[in-house]
Amino acid sequence: MKIQASLLPALALLMAQPVYGEVVDISTPGTSLILDAVKGQPLKILYYGAKLSDADKGMLDVAGGMNLNAYPVYGLNPQSEAALSVTHTDGNRTTDVAVQDVKTSTDKDGAKVTTVYMTDTAYPLNVNLNYRTYPGQDVIETWAEIENGEKGTVTLNRFMSGYLPVRYGNVWLSSLYGTWADEANLTEEPLPHGVRMIKNKDGLRNSHTSHGEVMLSLDGKPRENEGRVIGAALCYPGNYKLFVDTDDSNYHHFFAGINEENSEYHLKKGETFTTPELALTYSDEGLSGVSRNFHKWGRKYRLHDGDKERKVLLNSWEGVYFGINEEVMAGMMEDIASMGGELFVMDDGWFGDKYPRDVDNSSLGDWVVDTNKLPNGINGLLETAKKNGVKFGIWIEPEMTNTVSELYEKHPEYIIKAPKREVVKGRGGTQLVLDLANPKVQDLVFEVVDTLMTKYPEIDYIKWDANAPIMEHGSQYLTADNQSHLYIDYHKGLIKTLDRIRAAHPNVTIQACASGGGRANWGFLPWFDEFWLSDNNDALQRVYMQWGTSYFFPAIAMASHISASPNHQTFRRIPTKFRADVAMSGRLGLEMQPRDMNDEDKAICRQAINDYKKIRPIVQFGDLYRLQSPYDKKGVASLMYVTPEKDDAVFYWWKIETFMGQQLPRIPMAGLDPDKTYTVTELNRIDNEPLPYEGKSFTGRYLMDNGLEMPLTYKVDYNKNTDYASRVLRLTAK
Ligand code: GLA
Repeated sequence: MKIQASLLPALALLMAQPVYGEVVDISTPGTSLILDAVKGQPLKILYYGAKLSDADKGMLDVAGGMNLNAYPVYGLNPQSEAALSVTHTDGNRTTDVAVQDVKTSTDKDGAKVTTVYMTDTAYPLNVNLNYRTYPGQDVIETWAEIENGEKGTVTLNRFMSGYLPVRYGNVWLSSLYGTWADEANLTEEPLPHGVRMIKNKDGLRNSHTSHGEVMLSLDGKPRENEGRVIGAALCYPGNYKLFVDTDDSNYHHFFAGINEENSEYHLKKGETFTTPELALTYSDEGLSGVSRNFHKWGRKYRLHDGDKERKVLLNSWEGVYFGINEEVMAGMMEDIASMGGELFVMDDGWFGDKYPRDVDNSSLGDWVVDTNKLPNGINGLLETAKKNGVKFGIWIEPEMTNTVSELYEKHPEYIIKAPKREVVKGRGGTQLVLDLANPKVQDLVFEVVDTLMTKYPEIDYIKWDANAPIMEHGSQYLTADNQSHLYIDYHKGLIKTLDRIRAAHPNVTIQACASGGGRANWGFLPWFDEFWLSDNNDALQRVYMQWGTSYFFPAIAMASHISASPNHQTFRRIPTKFRADVAMSGRLGLEMQPRDMNDEDKAICRQAINDYKKIRPIVQFGDLYRLQSPYDKKGVASLMYVTPEKDDAVFYWWKIETFMGQQLPRIPMAGLDPDKTYTVTELNRIDNEPLPYEGKSFTGRYLMDNGLEMPLTYKVDYNKNTDYASRVLRLTAK
């Protein structure tokens, strides 16, 4: 058709009008997620990134938006990856969902939830997509609910929490991988064509090996304080799968959710399956910007008691291992009190009657005090703690038992085990996992905590450990046709139990430990106050592990302990000052026998605890700016925390390599107010004379443009110098 010249301007105007149906705007203060919800059509995602103006929002179609299905379902275009795959009651494996309605509601904590209701075009199967935003936060949580309105059971073959298309380009993926004692290694790579997958099948300690969080840097090689970055955290403690499919389209297709392998889920008529939340964020302030978004949101809305300062503690594990007795515990309490600590935690080895827990091969489940070791029981320890002016905490591993235990003798049916198979045993050759899919086991686990806390309400802290994976696919509780529910129902049961525990005992601090850092995931933190990051306390390796972990988790949740030298895992000898300077960038604690320390080391720890208490609010509630990555191999790592008001900051500098002739970079600071003037005070100082800038003041502008020169060694007596050096500086605005 030939278009009349006079019609052209009108046509141009028409083309410039948005053609989308109902634009759903899930905006946060700094970001926008734009959906197009036309009744009777699939829900489309148009945009995710920096906040859009209304005018730009209206132009997305002409600019070229994503316009892709927001929650791709399997069947009608089976070549592409899907977020949801269902087998309907009649065997049909195709799903085709269309928007019915969009509603918003207000959730707990004043959060806004936008729900897009969708239904299959041929089956009464509902798929509701939810998006939650919180006041003042740049994180969007998304999750799906799948409701079976069909006449019989439908099978969910895949049930992801969310999908996000990311424009094809020089996109890099940052993620964390590791193993026991080597958790949270950072890996950064450009996204390859094909599929890059992160998945986990441990069952219980999933962040040990691969973490459920990623960052996607949109402007090439990731930078800490510049560049556009998307962050994604799957809030799920069980098996997960996150992958990016880079196909021949203009998009990298990112999916995240429960790992569906061997976990197909049968949904009976009338039942709803709710996926865990996927938390998304975006920042144009680089990786650190995304971290700050996660930290801020997490502390306020996800981490248990995220607004309460954490105590400085001594944990008994590396100090005495199973060598627990009343005298030793009393000595440790006295020592940590004398160093200024606030809490003592008695680790493994305090329990077992018929089978005392002397090594790691018995007694889990028999949560009664071993009165041979502790004749005055927990009450005796609580009294000693009180006398010393410290709080008392205790270790448990309530999801587990051993073949050598009274619990297992009474209830062999409580453990995870497949029929007709020998039971697979873990730690100590005897450890077994209790089947939390079973409501009776849920009651039992609840009672472990409830009994402790009811009998001894003064217990201030629980270290909740989990030292085994799911070692065998079999539930003695689930029916034969629902064995595939094991991994998922375990976690449903665990979360139900944790809900009950928290309803009854909201104030006790609980640490999530799982053979070290197996449970660093936002899916756990609503019930836990912190996590144990690794059984490796080697300060040098901790610089790396804590660096990676800080991508997604705030310092308040990151337990970080000063342990002995030589280190018990690496055997590396690191001076106390360096060990303290690393530990005090997280939630500071000690994990050694203070009686084995000499007076000088004790004095350094005492000073570190004292100094840490002064900066605790900055570390635990401040904004993190990572400055120099240890992964850059520049010989130094550095980061800082700044209060939201930018009136107080703490700067960390760790020299991580030593060679003569080394040319270390000078580190410009970040996050300060350029127009404020900051006075420098060194913390944990061991030098005979102060740094040249001690007590001097600089503008934030100068510090951010130039940083301060760090001497490579200390000014200490000759025989006291070592190959390590580190500095902690407090910067206080006038
Ligand atoms: C796990 C934990 C340690 C310690 C031991 C006790 O390995 O990670 O910190 O509690 O169990 O057995």
